[in-house]
Amino acid sequence: MELLPSVLHVLIFFQYFLLSTSRPPTLPSSGPNPGRSRFVLVHGAGHGAWCWYKIIPILKSHGYNVTAIDLVSSGINLQSPDDLRSISDYIEPLIGLIESLEEGERAILVGHSLGGLAVSKAMEMFPGKVHMAVFATALMPGPNFNFTSLSQGDIELATLLVRPQRIFSNKDIDENIVLTRKRYGSVNRIFVVSEKDVTFVKEFQLWMMKNNPPNQVEYIKDSDHMIMISKPLDLAHRLLSLAKKFT
Ligand SMILES: *[C@@H]1O[C@H](CO)[C@@H](O)[C@H](O)[C@H]1NC(C)=O
Ligand SMILES: *[C@@H]1O[C@H](CO)[C@@H](O)[C@H](O)[C@H]1NC(C)=O
Repeated sequence: MELLPSVLHVLIFFQYFLLSTSRPPTLPSSGPNPGRSRFVLVHGAGHGAWCWYKIIPILKSHGYNVTAIDLVSSGINLQSPDDLRSISDYIEPLIGLIESLEEGERAILVGHSLGGLAVSKAMEMFPGKVHMAVFATALMPGPNFNFTSLSQGDIELATLLVRPQRIFSNKDIDENIVLTRKRYGSVNRIFVVSEKDVTFVKEFQLWMMKNNPPNQVEYIKDSDHMIMISKPLDLAHRLLSLAKKFT
């Protein structure tokens, strides 16, 4: 995990804040239909909305609405992790956001790392409100592939699902994230392989896909686990072309 020093966090947050409050001047004619698609970016363990700061302006400049969320006790969400009774509490900010999308608006979900669990749950709960889901080197459980089975593919995983979130047991995660073919399985799903990831090594990513094949796979060379920071242009352009293809 590459955790930046906290001073840098603050600077990045302010930069993110400025970016997120500035609007693109005009919508390019090649952009999405008004009110149709919103990119919703979901960070991994120990991170927050700030980690997407390089991607957000690129997506916005193509006319998309973008929301990067903070899960509970992440980023600027100051709720204490001690209040979390279950992983469902932790991912509630994403569920609440999808639930509150305007009529006719649908989400393009992008999950990183542990954020894949939140994205999976949102797909299962609101398949009709999700255009597609992109797993950027993210955990991708499936209908016959629960978290317990998934975590057996990587002995590091238990230690990765770190402070403060690793207060959820496998049982809690398996019981709260139950995925069905009918709902979760009805949403287009894309996996982005991060080739030089040393947290989720490439073999683990490929193994996960073997157990739960997505509709499409993208490969990004030379990216580490923090794919949105090490390869922001590459990732953003793939997200844009995937959005064109699947929405
Ligand atoms: C972005 O969101 C605003 C406010 O909800 C909405 O009016 C607009 O149509 C949306 N644009 C796109 C491209 O989805
Ligand atoms: C998760 O999957 C494992 C292995 O297939 C199974 O033994 C376990 O009962 C499952 N857990 C739940 C809560 O479904």
